[in-house]
Amino acid sequence: MSQENRPVNRITVIGAGTMGSQIAMVAALSGVSASLVDIKQEQLDVAKEQLWSRVDRDVHKGRRSLEDVNAAKARLNFTTDLEAAVAASDFVIEAAIEDLKIKRELFATLDRIAPPHAILATNSSNIVSSRVADATSRPDRVCNMHFFNPALVMECVEIIPHAQTSEKTVDIAAGLAESFGKRVVKLNKEVPGFIANRLLNAIRREALELYEDGVASAEDIDLAAKTALRHPMGPFELMDLVGIDVVYLIRMAEYEQTADPESLPAESVKKLYEEGSFGRKTGKGWYSYSN
Ligand code: 3HC
Repeated sequence: MSQENRPVNRITVIGAGTMGSQIAMVAALSGVSASLVDIKQEQLDVAKEQLWSRVDRDVHKGRRSLEDVNAAKARLNFTTDLEAAVAASDFVIEAAIEDLKIKRELFATLDRIAPPHAILATNSSNIVSSRVADATSRPDRVCNMHFFNPALVMECVEIIPHAQTSEKTVDIAAGLAESFGKRVVKLNKEVPGFIANRLLNAIRREALELYEDGVASAEDIDLAAKTALRHPMGPFELMDLVGIDVVYLIRMAEYEQTADPESLPAESVKKLYEEGSFGRKTGKGWYSYSN
């Protein structure tokens, strides 16, 4: 069957971190068979426990039926066997660490093991897909497909083609995101940070400058964002949700592409990153979390 006529029946998500695990759950809830792959079994075990508790809570709160949730759980396979998962997939979403070298090696491997028709998408928020597409023999079937944290809740998915991405690939990626119940924002061309993160970065940059200049505390800056602008979270709370490690690595990835010192992470973010205070996931970031 040609790429045009082949539906997406099975997807693989690579990386069982915060984003990858919720993307895989979103897919399974939408009715697609999904594999969540990670190199570490412990990471998969943690992801499974967190996802099951999220969807069980949905049943408890009457937001989803028990049948739907059980069916979704049965459709989601947790595995360390990358090759077996990808070989059976029509669509792969990479949500691994923001490191170009690792991503390029991964895309070369994916190209070797995925069926020829399969689309290889990256959830990267900063590494544009042209930088991994040339590690494959199918650049027309490579694009960015960018979800937002928490992926189970946030509606937006940005689809970003690079110069060689085919229109068909964009259509299939957009159709898949819509079938997940998401709203699709299509970009005409690639730019690091895409749309939403660039808007977010503008606010975050100002917030960090105010904080580092001693104008106000992180708590008060967050309070202003929530009460004066009605943002659901302040910029510091949001960094803790997204992960200080992710925030740091995104800035480093951008710096690597722009060579502009303005792209570098703020000193206060660098400090938290270096001390391993990654936000909610480590129990401490800008704020402390008891569980
Ligand atoms: N995972 C899954 N679902 C979650 C969740 C999480 N981490 N946190 C909250 N939810 C869901 C739950 O269903 C929860 O209801 P429940 O407690 O009854 O189960 C519901 O959202 C409401 O949660 P809360 O009452 O705890 O709090 P809020 O009403 O403030 O909602 C929020 C939480 C949806 C996270 C909201 O605060 C929000 O929208 N924050 C902004 C998020 C945002 O801006 N994300 C984009 C980040 S940028 C990004 O991801 C790009 C990347 O490249 C870095």
